[in-house]
Amino acid sequence: MEIRIFEDAASLGLAAADIFAQTIKNKPSCVLGLATGASPIPTYNRLVELCNAKEISFADVKTFNLDEYCDLPKDDKNSYYTFMHENLFNLVDIKEENVNILDGNAADAEKEAADFDAAIKAAGGIDVQLLGIGNNGHIGFNEPADAFTTGTFKVKLTESTLQANSRYFDENPMPHYALTMGVGSIMDAKKIVLIATGPAKAQAIFNTVKGEVTPQVPASILQQHPDCVLLLDKAAASLL
Ligand code: PGA
Repeated sequence: MEIRIFEDAASLGLAAADIFAQTIKNKPSCVLGLATGASPIPTYNRLVELCNAKEISFADVKTFNLDEYCDLPKDDKNSYYTFMHENLFNLVDIKEENVNILDGNAADAEKEAADFDAAIKAAGGIDVQLLGIGNNGHIGFNEPADAFTTGTFKVKLTESTLQANSRYFDENPMPHYALTMGVGSIMDAKKIVLIATGPAKAQAIFNTVKGEVTPQVPASILQQHPDCVLLLDKAAASLL
């Protein structure tokens, strides 16, 4: 694992965006794995700037998002569909048919998950996967568990995740289930970029980098990925 430490979230966002921009420049039809949450917002802002400046184009880029809530209308303000369109897709030249976001309302969640994994494979696999990390060490919605997960699946969210994310849900109650890429799907990405800022992430980062590889800290498996970089601000890196 490569670790890079930044002064603040803004400079970290520029560095993360640079990795994605280079990937797009080197391979205009690349496949990107994308994440939601507060952490990636500066990264997406910078990618929008670069696209507006015509330095990069998403015209041939395909994307796959890590996860989506179940039982939340697609256009709810807290759906990841809405998040991705508001923060990136509506602001760049991507083709909607190249955007892949899990349908958390699919009648058959297992089929939805299997179709998603098959679509990643058909696209040639993910070139670069962006990840945040939960305070409990989750990646995507792969929560601490007794075994590492494999492909995309439906997960019951833990109390820690419900607490961390419930601040966004002032209208509809927060869903208790989500569809998420599994740890195995994430590890299949050719390159992984994990970003973390703020003191609340410091323990999870310590466990990820210095702890044993254990499904109780899902991100710890990244120690075994051949091309994984952690971009951290000083607060998130404070226990290293
Ligand atoms: P955050 O979420 O970026 O909003 O902190 C990250 C995560 O839970 O994976």
